[in-house]
Amino acid sequence: MFVQARVLLAVSAVAAVAITTMGAQQASAQGKERSGKEVVEATCGSCHSTGANGAPKIGDKNAWAKRASQGLSSLTEHALKGIRQMPSHGGNPNLSDLEIGRAVTYMVNQSGGDWVEPRSKTAKPAERSGEQVVKAQCSKCHEAGTNGAPKIGDREAWTPRFSKGLDTLVRSAIGGHGGMPARGGKADLSDAELRKAITYMFNKGTVPVK
Ligand code: HEC
Ligand code: HEC
Repeated sequence: MFVQARVLLAVSAVAAVAITTMGAQQASAQGKERSGKEVVEATCGSCHSTGANGAPKIGDKNAWAKRASQGLSSLTEHALKGIRQMPSHGGNPNLSDLEIGRAVTYMVNQSGGDWVEPRSKTAKPAERSGEQVVKAQCSKCHEAGTNGAPKIGDREAWTPRFSKGLDTLVRSAIGGHGGMPARGGKADLSDAELRKAITYMFNKGTVPVK
């Protein structure tokens, strides 16, 4: 079938991509730039550990969840430029964009998130495989079929949705609709990661997937 052939093609493309899952700590040890933890302890913590002036407090899941839904790039931009009582660069102009991004990621992760700490200016963060994304996030609803979510590996449930084409499904997952939250509820997932996760849920148990 046409639909099936497209998906198989997509899967072999995924398998061809070498996925590097270098740990964030390992990566930061290689560069001169400080890790998120170091930046937060030296600079951001002075307000964010206490919640001074309404700063979202490190560890406060609710306070960070609302902000984290904007995604890493816009949070980092706000931290670079400053926003209301939040000073530009957290008050330390020597911090690089990368260090700010790492500090934001660190605070989000200390507050219930699991973002990948940015590695360097040039390298993109390591891309997660479809299986990793599904296990970490999509399975929360797609495992049991919560609120009518099509179940992982349930061809009957997925096939009518795939008839719209994979690109349409990816767009739908990006925007969310009904009980399906935007980006599956995880703002830092890239479009490519969502595509792999959808392909994985369609193929799981029916063709061998990596
Ligand atoms: C002088 C106190 C202070 C310091 C130091 C500080 N912040 Fe903030 N930060 C705030 C306050 C206050 C807010 C809440 C601003 C608001 O939304 O009104 C905030 C909000 C934020 C937000 C949320 C922005 C948004 O769009 O919702 C991020 C991200 C952030 N800070 C990152 C950092 C980082 C990274 C550092 C360290 C490099 C840092 N902050 C250092 C006071 C501070
Ligand atoms: C909080 C629960 C929840 C999570 C988490 C979740 N989904 Fe969904 N998803 C749903 C529900 C419910 C539907 C059915 C929505 C409908 O069609 O009304 C759905 C539908 C979909 C669809 C079909 C969209 C369409 O247009 O037919 C795709 C694709 C999808 N999810 C991908 C994902 C991916 C990828 C993830 C993980 C990154 C994910 N979902 C995480 C609940 C969830």
